[in-house]
Amino acid sequence: QDDDCEQRIIEAKAALGKRSVILAHHYQRADVYKHADLTGDSLKLSRLAAATEADYLVFCGVHFMAEVADILSKPEQIAILPDLAAGCSMADMASLSKVERAWRELAEVLEPDETITPVTYINSAADLKAFCGEHGGIVCTSSNAVKILQWSFSRREKVLFFPDQHLGRWSGHKMGIPLDEMLVWDFDEPMGGLTPEQIRKAKILLWKGHCSVHQMFQPQHILRFRNQYPDGKVISHPECSFEVCKNSDFVGSTEYIINTIRDAEKGTRWLVGTELNLVGRIAEEFKPEGKIVQFMAPTICMCSTMARIDPQHLAWTLENLVAGKVVNQIKVPVAEAVLAKLALERMLEAS
Ligand code: 13P
Ligand code: SF4
Repeated sequence: QDDDCEQRIIEAKAALGKRSVILAHHYQRADVYKHADLTGDSLKLSRLAAATEADYLVFCGVHFMAEVADILSKPEQIAILPDLAAGCSMADMASLSKVERAWRELAEVLEPDETITPVTYINSAADLKAFCGEHGGIVCTSSNAVKILQWSFSRREKVLFFPDQHLGRWSGHKMGIPLDEMLVWDFDEPMGGLTPEQIRKAKILLWKGHCSVHQMFQPQHILRFRNQYPDGKVISHPECSFEVCKNSDFVGSTEYIINTIRDAEKGTRWLVGTELNLVGRIAEEFKPEGKIVQFMAPTICMCSTMARIDPQHLAWTLENLVAGKVVNQIKVPVAEAVLAKLALERMLEAS
């Protein structure tokens, strides 16, 4: 069955030629990743999507990534997500209505449009990017979050950061902002569960969102590794908790993790705090150089929603394109796309 799918993908790709391009995020499962024309972290994939000339951008990632590809590509290009159920649970933790409510509540204490920059992690729906575009805000990714915060603070005194509290906290910390000036905005509570005094004092208000995959990594996993292998190195994604990031030797995006291990000396040992498909792939890739790459958690931490993009869905999508039929197109409404593009372009310029 799988061999069959593989052959179908190869044949459909060949039939489409330069009319289609397959983009895959680094967390994509191996049996899909190997068919990709372009791979990267979220920032790199955004740039690649904006630059490609293909008619069809087949995105093997999650929903928000295909939305970004649609927003940044030309109007006649078509972005496709092979399985529409491939979402990001973190992105789902911030909805436009909850962010708008937070903005209204903040207006009871200060003038948000003059004092607060809304910053959304790229792991968010297009309507939130549009909200940022409209309110002088910006998008960030895991590889440029510090730069984007610097951009934000050069304009307004505070930031509302959503949906990932961990990326916001780690990036603020890297900028030298004390932890007690970064407060969690609990969107289930009136006024985010904060007093007006706390809101006035805070530099960054951190949305109470997280990644269900990266929350599985714990400081004790690092401690155990360091006791066993005192010369080993630890590298983590900034979606991990503050304690995990603080105890790591390196913290950065998926592309950064891959490049750091690739550039390291032969024979080094690594503990990696990010998604399992990526870690498994680089463990194999760097084995011939004598590098030992270990996954951080004892349990399986996969981005199960991204894994919904399987060879079956990819084959089906491509074969439909060969037959002249577009399936699972991701199309952001024009008015929303214009504002979201503004926030994305501010990011691409600032990073
Ligand atoms: P990167 O931009 O580092 O690839 O991260 C995307 C993501 O969703 C990590 O969970
Ligand atoms: Fe979203 Fe987490 Fe999957 Fe990244 S790993 S796409 S943040 S659910």
